Amino acid sequence: EKAGYEHFMLKEMYEQPRTIVDTISPRVRDRNGEREIHIEELNMTDDELRAIKKIHIVACGSAYHAGVTGKYVLEGLARIPVEVDLASEFRYRNPLLEEGCMVIVISQSGETADTLAALRESREKGFQVLGIVNVVGSSIAREADACLYTWAGPEIAVATTKAYSAQLAALYLLAMKLAKVRGLMSDREFTALLADLKCLPDQIELLLGQKQKIQRFANRYLGARDIFFIGRGIDYAISLEGSLKLKEISYVHSEAYAAGELKHGTISLIEDGTLVVAVSTQPELYQKMISNIVEVKARGAFVMAVTNEENKAVEKASDYVVYIPQTNPYFTNSLAIIPLQLFAYYVAVGRGCDVDKPRNLAKSVTVE
Ligand code: F6R
Repeated sequence: EKAGYEHFMLKEMYEQPRTIVDTISPRVRDRNGEREIHIEELNMTDDELRAIKKIHIVACGSAYHAGVTGKYVLEGLARIPVEVDLASEFRYRNPLLEEGCMVIVISQSGETADTLAALRESREKGFQVLGIVNVVGSSIAREADACLYTWAGPEIAVATTKAYSAQLAALYLLAMKLAKVRGLMSDREFTALLADLKCLPDQIELLLGQKQKIQRFANRYLGARDIFFIGRGIDYAISLEGSLKLKEISYVHSEAYAAGELKHGTISLIEDGTLVVAVSTQPELYQKMISNIVEVKARGAFVMAVTNEENKAVEKASDYVVYIPQTNPYFTNSLAIIPLQLFAYYVAVGRGCDVDKPRNLAKSVTVE
């Protein structure tokens, strides 16, 4: 059933282009010759969408990381304040949910105990909960007021890849829809964003095609003790996910840091030869990231940059570069994650780890 792939994880990484098409295309429709985003499952009128004052996103693990990206995209495009919480924290902190707020829970399995508890707690308090869920008919899908399915299909590998990518796509659609009904997006901008969304699957395919290059690079780090991922803004969100992928399947210790936070502690961990993966996809932050790269290199770090082709300055500053194709700055996480997934995968393979079933982890965490 692995369809010729060595592991389910690799197979599922290769299913990401399809997953994104399946999540997006049923929700982009033509009406009177105009394209619109139609999220039927939301069951909310445009007036109701306009009335949303705040969004709380609640999830665990990678789904939480998708939520962190969602915060940047929703706040940026729809100008709605967003709070993102880990479900295990949210449920015990007596969260302040105010009139007009909407709760979004994100879960691949739809069975994660803490996420389900957060959903129940929010509904008991009288708030509407939207689930972004992959498994059809799961507990979260059934109990949420509305459910937006990520059509990724069954995910077998414990480390999520395609469901995570589908969660990002679902959040982009939601952010664009909200921005549009709130009058914050011109038709031109909307059309441009739709065009960029449409390109993502092919661009992901292209990045997957670089797997040998990434494997060769990963093979140099099979004995690494620590690896750091740094980024700013939305690139910080993808650093979190890249770091989680690596540590969960390869057992190499890794941390993600907001690049501006390095000086406040982490930089003391950088030694001669330490690998620092620097994600830099946001043009207005290129310069700031270069300063951070220079800082870690001065302490002996080896820097792999994940960046846009136009960013020649970062190429000069770092030791190794992976380029991602051109897209809207809000969508770069969908592309930057591909080399990071491949890197984690090949470090794990090279170390002889059980990639699809990492020790101590379960696909669906149904206990607290
Ligand atoms: C990471 C991973 C976990 C899950 C987390 C939430 O690769 O698989 O961190 O993302 O356990 O699971 P769901 O999405 O099923 O609620």
